[in-house]
Amino acid sequence: MKNKIKELKNLKEKAKQGGGKVKVKKQHAKGKLTARERIELLVDEGSFDELDIFVKHRARDFGLDKQHFPGDGVVTGLAKIDERPVAIFSQDFTVFGGSLSETHAEKICKVMNIAMKAGIPVIGLNDSGGARIQEGVVSLGGYADLFLLNTLASGVIPQLSVILGPCAGGAVYSPAITDFVFMAKSTSYMFVTGPNVVKTVTHEDVSFEDLGGAETHASKSGVAHFVYDNEVETLLNVRKLLGYLPLNYRDKSPELQFDETTIKPEQKLENIVPDNPNKPYDMKEIINLIVDDNDFFEVHENYAENIICGFSRMGGTAIGIIANQPAVLAGVLDINASVKAARFVRFCDAFGIPILVLEDVPGFLPGTEQEWNGIIRHGAKLLYAFSEATVPKITVITRKAYGGAYDVMNSKHIRGDFNFAWPSAEIAVMGPKGAVEIIFKKEIEKSSNPEKALDKKIKEYRDKFANPYITAERGFVDDVILPGETRLKLINAFNYLRTKVDTNPKKKHGNIPL
Ligand code: HXC
Repeated sequence: MKNKIKELKNLKEKAKQGGGKVKVKKQHAKGKLTARERIELLVDEGSFDELDIFVKHRARDFGLDKQHFPGDGVVTGLAKIDERPVAIFSQDFTVFGGSLSETHAEKICKVMNIAMKAGIPVIGLNDSGGARIQEGVVSLGGYADLFLLNTLASGVIPQLSVILGPCAGGAVYSPAITDFVFMAKSTSYMFVTGPNVVKTVTHEDVSFEDLGGAETHASKSGVAHFVYDNEVETLLNVRKLLGYLPLNYRDKSPELQFDETTIKPEQKLENIVPDNPNKPYDMKEIINLIVDDNDFFEVHENYAENIICGFSRMGGTAIGIIANQPAVLAGVLDINASVKAARFVRFCDAFGIPILVLEDVPGFLPGTEQEWNGIIRHGAKLLYAFSEATVPKITVITRKAYGGAYDVMNSKHIRGDFNFAWPSAEIAVMGPKGAVEIIFKKEIEKSSNPEKALDKKIKEYRDKFANPYITAERGFVDDVILPGETRLKLINAFNYLRTKVDTNPKKKHGNIPL
């Protein structure tokens, strides 16, 4: 037995060396950690239970029959993060550039199948040259198997993708199907075709970083939800995100201890919205003042900044926040903001995370660029997402709620459970100037002093509609509240909704306007 134990230990030790010392040194020289070092940083100390460490590829061509690395370029297994279970796969670039072979794919699929049955999140650490070129179609098949599982697991368990190296070609579509994509600056990139192909086809000169680096995807394409300076920071923030999420769609997000006696009115909230309705302010100031301990974990921080999405806690309970940002493009809804928020709403709804909407929106962005690129169908995504969501949904209108955007931003009409307004709220079909220019056009034109007449009509319109009381008379807002007591009102409201049950009509699935 002693010898057998020794043999086992030796075999495992050998497997843990991946592609060997030279390759590991190369990996470190690029500023990248190894697949195992990453897992160590990500999970609770000593909690990793590895699977399939002895798996080898079955390829024979191009000399592969003579090159075997146990584990075949991916480390898979189960572990704990903050004492909660997770499934992990971590591609090992030191073995065939982390490329995906038939067996490499089988390992990932095995751990994903376990995760789906057990109802625990999957975290993929991606660092790969793509399909293993020597294997041909079986590696393409392996990717397709993975894409299918990503799709089937969507909405069952949270799936997080962490890009820590190359992720190119069709390989990008696995992370793209998952719920959140993390990238580390300088060392990670994602693209469907690389700079060389781009040059050939479109004659554009573009670097790896500009084409598909972390900052590009975090700010231009929206492919990456989170971007950090280095791998360590990236992995620590994966842990942080998981702290807001349930293990699966039947589970609840972790609750933190909360002492209700600590809730106090917050007078600073009364001085944030300026008297002048055309002046911007920073909605994040409001968020920080109403949530627990300034706890706000923003998603897509640098993308479509005119809408803010992120996780937070109120009264110890995890919530998702969607908020217009008047400090960027006046908080207008455009294509990118609609798509960003729609996907976030759907994530929250899929995983039972209550939603808070903070609303100050002048409407949808006008213009040919928006219209020709489909603001109609993209804006409809957000409307659809809020309408179909059955989790607790609360809205606070801090200032403008104009036009279609009033309906879209979780209005009472689309099943907002509690809709509150601050006294500064203005709820109308459109802004005062646009409105009077239409309905009093002739009157203003005929007037001896059109400018004065316009101002007078704007004032009349503002006095009538630029308040929350007409809406409150209808019951479309449930209460007009003091800004200072918003936190208390919201914690109570979310508590009332703890046992909320709502459903949608039976169907195969809806047809969101994609
Ligand atoms: C087999 C691969 C590989 C691959 C890299 N390697 N990619 N082996 N299949 N796809 C091997 C290299 O031969 C090398 O082996 C080692 O990994 C490290 O690669 P380097 O080139 O030395 O590293 P680096 O300079 O950092 O460049 C990394 C890279 C480059 C940019 C990823 O390797 C590269 O361009 N690889 C090919 C990428 C690609 O075109 N993949 C197919 C995409 S299409 P040695 O033994 O020399 O160290 C695809 C289809 C998916 O993936 C379809 C899904 C539907």
